Amino acid sequence: MEFTRLVGTRRSIRWFKSWEPVARESIQRILEHTRWTTCPGNLQPWRAIVVYRDELSEEDRDLLLKADNWQGAHVQAPVWIYWYADIEAARPEAFVRNTHDLLDVGAIPAAYGWARDTIKAAIQEGVETPEGMASIQEILHNMPPEVSAMMAYSETVGACAVSTLAAFNEGLGTCLHTIARPSFQDKVKQVLGVPERFIPVWNQLVGVPAESMAAGGQRPRQPFEETFFWGRYGQPMERDDKVVEQLTIDGLLQAPAPLPQRWEELRFLTRMYGYPED
Ligand SMILES: Cc1cc2nc3c(=O)[nH]c(=O)nc-3n(C[C@H](O)[C@H](O)[C@H](O)COP(=O)(O)O)c2cc1C
Repeated sequence: MEFTRLVGTRRSIRWFKSWEPVARESIQRILEHTRWTTCPGNLQPWRAIVVYRDELSEEDRDLLLKADNWQGAHVQAPVWIYWYADIEAARPEAFVRNTHDLLDVGAIPAAYGWARDTIKAAIQEGVETPEGMASIQEILHNMPPEVSAMMAYSETVGACAVSTLAAFNEGLGTCLHTIARPSFQDKVKQVLGVPERFIPVWNQLVGVPAESMAAGGQRPRQPFEETFFWGRYGQPMERDDKVVEQLTIDGLLQAPAPLPQRWEELRFLTRMYGYPED
C-alpha cells in the first residue's frame, strides 16, 4: 500500500479471525521492516519474541492470556509478538561500539568532528565534544542505568510504531497491548525465557481482521492546531486547506469513526464470538 494511505488506514484491530493462520513469512516480513527503525547511536535495543498461540501448551497460553486479563483481541489473535527492551544494548559502551560502526560506513561525518577517539573520550571521560558534533558527553558520560532503561524503552516503542505499520502493509490486522499486568510480568518472562534485565514494552497482536479494515472509521485525534505549533508553543501551526484536501484524496484523512454501519458490525462480532450483548 502507498505510504500515505497506509498511515491513514491503520487502525488498532480488536477483532481477529481466530481460525485463520498467519504465514511465518508474513511475520518475518514485518520484522524485517522493523529492523530498519531509527534510534540514537544505532543502539537497536528492541528484542521480540514471536509466539504462535496454537503452538503453546495450554498452560502457557492461559498464563499469557491471564496476564493480559483475557482481553478479547488477545484471545482471538493467532500471533503475539512480545516486544522487550534490552537495557544492556543502551549502555554507553554499546553507544561507543555502534557509533564506531557508523563511522566505518560513512554515516556520521568526520567533517562534523566525529572520530573514534573523540567518541571514546566523550563517553568514558566526559571530554567536551568539538563544535559540530553531538554533545554526547552530557548524556552518556556516567550515564545511570535508569537513563539507559528509559532510552531502551522509548526506542523500542518507536520500533513498535514501525511494526504496526508493517503489519498493515502485509494486509494483516494488529493492535498493541501491554505485555502483562505488573503482578504477572515475571511469570511471562519465565514462559518466554526472557532475561530478567529485559524491560517489558508491548505485545503486538497480529492476525487476519474479523472486523472490516476500516474498523468503524478513523479514531479521534486531538485537533492539529492544538498539537503542533509554529516557532513557539502556543502559536498554532495553521493547516492549509489545499493540503488537507489532497491528503483526503490520497487516503491519509478518512471518514471519522463511527461509520454508520459500525454498531451493526459490532453487534455481529459480539454475537459471533459469544460475548454478552447489552
Ligand atoms: C502501546 C499501546 C498499548 C495499547 N494497549 C491496548 C490495550 O491493552 N487494549 C486495547 O484494547 N487497546 C490498546 N491499545 C490501542 C489504543 O487504544 C488505540 O491505539 C487507540 O484507540 C487509538 O486508535 P487507533 O490505533 O485505531 O488509531 C494500545 C495502543 C498502544 C499504542
